[in-house]
Amino acid sequence: MITRPRRLRQNPVLRKMVRETRMDASSLIYPMFVREGSGIKEEIPAMEGQYRYTTNTMLYALEDLEKAGVRSVMFFGIPDVKDEIGSGAYAEDGIVQRALREARAHFPEMYLITDVCMCEYTSHGHCGLLKGHDVDNDSTLELLAKTAVSHVQAGADMVAPSDMMDGRVLAIRNALDDHGYENTPIMSYAVKYASSFYAPFRDAAGSAPSFGDRKSYQMDFHNRKEALKEAQLDVSEGADIIMVKPAMTYLDIVREVADTVNVPAYSVSGEYAMVKAGAKLGCVDEEKIVCEMATGVYRAGACVYLTYFCEGNCRVYREGVYWVKGGLYQKNHLVRGGSFCVAVFISA
Ligand code: PBG
Repeated sequence: MITRPRRLRQNPVLRKMVRETRMDASSLIYPMFVREGSGIKEEIPAMEGQYRYTTNTMLYALEDLEKAGVRSVMFFGIPDVKDEIGSGAYAEDGIVQRALREARAHFPEMYLITDVCMCEYTSHGHCGLLKGHDVDNDSTLELLAKTAVSHVQAGADMVAPSDMMDGRVLAIRNALDDHGYENTPIMSYAVKYASSFYAPFRDAAGSAPSFGDRKSYQMDFHNRKEALKEAQLDVSEGADIIMVKPAMTYLDIVREVADTVNVPAYSVSGEYAMVKAGAKLGCVDEEKIVCEMATGVYRAGACVYLTYFCEGNCRVYREGVYWVKGGLYQKNHLVRGGSFCVAVFISA
């Protein structure tokens, strides 16, 4: 007897009925770069279609996102002045703190998350304080905790430490609790690999290390068991959500970590840039690739997806896939849609 898996693939109704992965816009987080200055929206050279905003132009972008159905953003700050101790990260009038206050005042419904790290603020570009040429773990913890508290004081709903220092989740949890923020969740970049896929981000944020690399704190990408250890450690320190990053080449890790905790996956800047470049050359169809990448992440078990592709306009419809481009909603690819299917995230 021939076993016939094709029986369940015969028509769109049946295919949609038995579909295993469903997505919706409520699980999307849009990463956003905010810089000093006023009235500026500048394109990031390595990330075509992505911008650095100032705190006032950011409001228009948030409006577009909200209209499109994106409910959460993650802020990255780009300060004008950097120093050895990254003091802009925890300054009361730091760039992220001001962006938070503006966003909070104008978009009370938006869920505001902040990346907590030192690398955008240090003159040497490392994610912690230096002792000689070493990134010193324990003295960095206090500054990370201070940064997280200042973000929450400025209006952050959730903080996301991305530095990969040991013990930082506990340090941040304690500091938040001490300030009465025991209900503020921590999304830990628990499993963050030392990846070449971050290159366009470092261009965007001017945060490339001025010497050496990040391999003494970010994870070796040959390792799987270490990922589980990192995830468990952060859970035991009080992390509420455990991120895996990058996404595309680490779905095996998403799969494993997702068996026990809520896992967001972060499709990082290099993934975005590659799709853009490939599409520009006519090698791949951007819209289809973006949809397929998102599906892969959810199929692997991620419950949240951070992606630059939710930029601008995205929207879920109960019926059909609606591609959103340049602010115009175009209905096509209808046969591929279905209830709860996501409209995907095309940059303008
Ligand atoms: C800060 C941070 C980085 C990213 C997120 N948070 C850069 C890095 O670790 O060098 C990368 C995000 C992306 O590439 O999209 N430490």
